[in-house]
Amino acid sequence: MITFSRMEDIKWGIVGPGKIAAKFAQDLNLVKGATIEAVASRNVERAQSFASEHGANQVFGSYEELFASDTVDVIYVATPHVFHKDLTIRAMQSGKHVLCEKPMGVNSAEVHEMLQVAGENQVFLMEALWSRFHPTIIEIKKKIDKGVLGKIHYINADFAFYAMDRDAGSRLLDPHLAGGSLLDIGIYPVFLAYVLLGMPKHITANAELRDNGLETQVAMLFEYDNARAVLYSGLTHNSRMSAEIAGDKGNFYLDPRWHEANGYEQLVEGKGEKIDLPKHGNGYTHEIEEVHTCLKQGKTESALWSHQDSKNLIALLDKIRNLSGIHFPFE
Ligand SMILES: NC(=O)c1ccc[n+]([C@@H]2O[C@H](COP(=O)([O-])OP(=O)(O)OC[C@H]3O[C@@H](n4cnc5c(N)ncnc54)[C@H](OP(=O)(O)O)[C@@H]3O)[C@@H](O)[C@H]2O)c1
Repeated sequence: MITFSRMEDIKWGIVGPGKIAAKFAQDLNLVKGATIEAVASRNVERAQSFASEHGANQVFGSYEELFASDTVDVIYVATPHVFHKDLTIRAMQSGKHVLCEKPMGVNSAEVHEMLQVAGENQVFLMEALWSRFHPTIIEIKKKIDKGVLGKIHYINADFAFYAMDRDAGSRLLDPHLAGGSLLDIGIYPVFLAYVLLGMPKHITANAELRDNGLETQVAMLFEYDNARAVLYSGLTHNSRMSAEIAGDKGNFYLDPRWHEANGYEQLVEGKGEKIDLPKHGNGYTHEIEEVHTCLKQGKTESALWSHQDSKNLIALLDKIRNLSGIHFPFE
């Protein structure tokens, strides 16, 4: 396993220089102790143009060349969902630590396999669930665990945007790329209920499916002892995306868009307060810093978003898909 001294820079390699990789690279450039060592694309010109925009010491025209590099410590996998498993496994088998975009895999079988390979190779692996590391989520979770809202009875969270004008082959609209709202954005409301209330006792879910099997909307109800989480994701319209968490002593209202909130409103026993908690950069700095902290401590997983958390999250997504008839053609 690659180990790090406290002073050493951590050298990142980026796989799949697309939309999210560009935002992530901007944030890598803000984090002290992070270097963009290399970027790999299936097309070397795309890697070169990404490197000239964000800075990278090396460019590769194939992902394999990056996996083989002996100067890269940790690889950020930023391809469409269906390629996460194989690329992450190949990176880990080459001795690299990995931060893999969400969802870690498209189903439980994939995630379990990835975690097994991480264990066999004794490397760090984390799902890039960036919201978990944002100042707003960190603070509201601490307060809820301390009982500031009393007992939680209700969560309402959604994530929707209009995407139906995209190309039919785009990763959001193509079932062969595990398209649909659930794995791309529905994962966030599911995450919020899970991180605050844990695994539900019962789930109800209903989806709108197109002729090609593409899911375009899914409504979910999580039942807990004395609590309900009403969750939703969709690609057919925009939404305001302000999440609400209600307990018997008060409420939190997360600023839109709540999954990347820069603060929240607290209303406890009749007293209102607006709390500003701005993210640093685009908001990926927080997960990058968590990776650095874990690597410098020689950890193979994060305590804030652990391997078990990734297993539980994908088990919930599998269950929702089963209940609402969302199937991918390759499964
Ligand atoms: N955390 C967040 O805020 C956030 C936001 C958006 C997306 N995401 C996640 O990040 C991942 C990528 O999303 P994105 O919107 O950045 O995707 P994207 O721009 O459509 O694709 C990313 C890159 O993947 C590579 N790729 C490899 N095989 C491909 C294939 N067969 N078809 C298309 N692209 C392929 C391409 O790079 P080359 O061809 O140059 O190698 C492409 O530029 C998704 O899993 C998504 O869930 C996370």
